[in-house]
Amino acid sequence: MEKFVIRGGNPLRGEVTISGAKNAAVAIIAGTILSDEPCLLENVPEIRDINICVKILYEMGASIKIIDKNTIRVDPRGISDPTVPYELARACRASSYFLGTLLGRFRQADVPMPGGCDLGDRPIDQHLKAFNLLGARHSIDGGCVSLRADRLVGSQIYFDVVTVGGTINAIFAAVKADGLTVIENAAKEPQIVDVANFLNSMGADIMGAGTDVIKIRGVKYLKGVTYGIIPDPIEAGTYMVAAAATKGDVLIKNVIPKHLESITDKLRKAGAYVEEFDDSIHVRCSSRLMKTSFKTLVHPGFPTDMQPQLSTMLTTAEGTSVVTDNIFDNRFRYANELRRFGADITVEGTTAVIQGIEELSGATVKATDLRAGAALVIAGLMANGTTVVEDIYHIERGYENIDEKLRGLGADITRVTDFDNKRMAV
Ligand code: EPZ
Repeated sequence: MEKFVIRGGNPLRGEVTISGAKNAAVAIIAGTILSDEPCLLENVPEIRDINICVKILYEMGASIKIIDKNTIRVDPRGISDPTVPYELARACRASSYFLGTLLGRFRQADVPMPGGCDLGDRPIDQHLKAFNLLGARHSIDGGCVSLRADRLVGSQIYFDVVTVGGTINAIFAAVKADGLTVIENAAKEPQIVDVANFLNSMGADIMGAGTDVIKIRGVKYLKGVTYGIIPDPIEAGTYMVAAAATKGDVLIKNVIPKHLESITDKLRKAGAYVEEFDDSIHVRCSSRLMKTSFKTLVHPGFPTDMQPQLSTMLTTAEGTSVVTDNIFDNRFRYANELRRFGADITVEGTTAVIQGIEELSGATVKATDLRAGAALVIAGLMANGTTVVEDIYHIERGYENIDEKLRGLGADITRVTDFDNKRMAV
């Protein structure tokens, strides 16, 4: 098992470049299945969830060429069996996107129930509702979701809850259906716009992505394209918060500032200085931050994927902050770990009350999921003394070279492989 050892207390200073967006890239990689020609994807982050999605394509028969660490060529024409292997599906949430893309191309899909971060209940009823409305039948047997359709026909889909995954899957299934599909109460996150731009550049006819009504007119053929993934707003937000939390001074490059507005707003409210440029953002902070209460909301509200990081920053802010996260029912599992640093955080249901203390002190903690893991790294950077973050494989699912990028900003962070485990692996 690998872990990070962090000697805290260094303000982060310098420049960091943001990688491609995980949550756009995983969907777009699955989306290549719909293409009738090879596609070249650029700005793909080098992270564990991407490796899993690429492996799923490969196992199903796609031809994959890794051009360099952030560029992949996918030729999906060799896929003959629309079945996702069990172990790979269980390893990430994004495996659910193969339901929509396989259904769109083959009119059938067999995909084990997706895995991913344990954030509480993560149903896929809205995905299934969309597939059913488009003409597919579904069954769930032995933990595997099977979809079958004689033909897919455009339909009116109203989502009962705003769902990122459900919206993207409905687009995937509708893009080659006959006629017009209208999705109402659609999610508006940046990755939805990126997926729609990718498909439109291949010849799809999707309008309204980024609003809550998306119209898709089915097409017969999608051509191969070269497509660059958008920068990761959550990775960018994580470095923004880390800069403010360590009283640092960081220029965060390769970002779309518009995607970061809700994070910028909260950091400014807490007392950090944030300046936006065309494709970079500058964050600095020199005095103690102030309490800031917030609620997570669907885009353009404050993202649930940034809640653990911002909450962690507030553990040393002056005053009491109240944080509510209703998107998932179990997104405060990291609070137990934060208490090991001395943080004063109490959780009641989906609300946390954080009483700011003067200083965190280093601790040995476990990453409980991806964003919680990033938050514990931030806590380690803020804390006095040494912190050990275990189970960092969660963090590596979504952050490219986080330790290297942080060292570039002056952090004292080292990756350590547990001696005993290493010996056992020999
Ligand atoms: C995506 O998950 C992201 N994952 C998550 O990123 C992110 O936290 C989440 O959107 C919200 O922004 C990927 O893009 C791979 P949802 P997703 O469907 O699509 C309920 C990260 O750290 N719901 O928008 O699974 C659901 O229970 C992660 O990068 C249903 O009730 O999220 C939740 O309460 C983790 N029925 C809410 O909707 C459904 O059929 C939002 O979920 C689907 C969802």
